[in-house]
Amino acid sequence: MKRDLPKSAKYGITILITVFVILMIGLVGLRAKIEHDLSTPFTYHLQANDTEDKANAVNDGSVKEGDDYSYTVDISKHWQNNPDTPLMTYGAQYDNTITNNSTYDIVRWSVVVSVPEKNITIDSYWNGEWVYDKQASTIAITPDERIATIQAGDSATFGAVMISRELMDFTDITFSGCRYKPITKYPLFWVIMVLLVAWVTSVVAYIFYRIREENYRKTSEKLNKVISQTMSTLANFIDTKDEDTRGHSNRVSYYSMKIAEKLGMNEEEVRDIGYIGLMHDCGKLAVRNEILTKPGKLTTEEFDIMKLHTTEGGKILSEFTAIPGIKDGALYHHERYDGTGYMAGLKGEDIPLVARIICVADALDAMDSNRCYRRRLSRDVILSELETNKGTQFDPKIARLTLDMINNGEIYIE
Ligand SMILES: [Fe+2]
Repeated sequence: MKRDLPKSAKYGITILITVFVILMIGLVGLRAKIEHDLSTPFTYHLQANDTEDKANAVNDGSVKEGDDYSYTVDISKHWQNNPDTPLMTYGAQYDNTITNNSTYDIVRWSVVVSVPEKNITIDSYWNGEWVYDKQASTIAITPDERIATIQAGDSATFGAVMISRELMDFTDITFSGCRYKPITKYPLFWVIMVLLVAWVTSVVAYIFYRIREENYRKTSEKLNKVISQTMSTLANFIDTKDEDTRGHSNRVSYYSMKIAEKLGMNEEEVRDIGYIGLMHDCGKLAVRNEILTKPGKLTTEEFDIMKLHTTEGGKILSEFTAIPGIKDGALYHHERYDGTGYMAGLKGEDIPLVARIICVADALDAMDSNRCYRRRLSRDVILSELETNKGTQFDPKIARLTLDMINNGEIYIE
């Protein structure tokens, strides 16, 4: 049989799914940011210190700084008056360093530098390719594999040997590339990871909790079944003593539960009332069969013996404390609201509520059943009996409630 999940389980699952979705959105968002950074090139113009004294630049190197990147061109290694190239007097090794002060790695990068000279020969280069565009007076530098990535906080060096008329200071540098930060460098990633670990732990704990709860539910369901079937079986024992009352205890139990529900009792109280109804006549086990099944009217002595089924029931159930009121149901279900019932002669609300409920349910089923001394009563007679005896035999509130339930079909009488 398909069973709906309890509300708490539905909430638990909803919370777990929601948290998981949020975490996944966080991860996907982070991934998307990384992809966006990788596919969005930046261009950075590094200002040249062209006002600096050239000798100074030769000795100290010229430094071009941006917010996140600094660029150094070291031209200290140079020579003049090369006899092999009389018209190009300067040969120099241009050592370039880009320092990445940002928090991102730089990938797919390149550099374009403007050069003042029109007659340049690139003799050789290292760590990257240098291409001179005479028309534009620029040199394009593309890094090779070794320095393709400049990690955050790291630097890349590359350079070329060039021959020119003058020793050059690069006038303008355009540095372009893409930012990349491995996902593990984002604090958010670790926050998500910690939350994911917590999530997994919660899921495992939740599964264990659900398994335990399910086992507990099955056990208690079985236990309840055992209790209710045991009670029902015991009730059958009681009712078998008299052919006329077969099923009586089960019906009294049913009516009592309907009344208890109407009185606003909770699920457990209603279930208990059902058990109390099943056991209310257990004292009849102690009454001789010839009295129970006597077709005619009982003599006074016989009736006195019959009355004893209440106190006998009380004795039988005296140690049955697990269901509160079960003894009272047997002991007092023949008390009358006006105090003229048996055996204790209790009156009004002194009669325990369970007994007042059983009293109405018991009378209702008795009137609606064939007995050895009379036929079942008609619906109208039953209704009028309940009406007439409310406040005398029956608790008026319970009788009223029962009448209403019969009238609106909640309790069915032919
Ligand atoms: Fe009884």
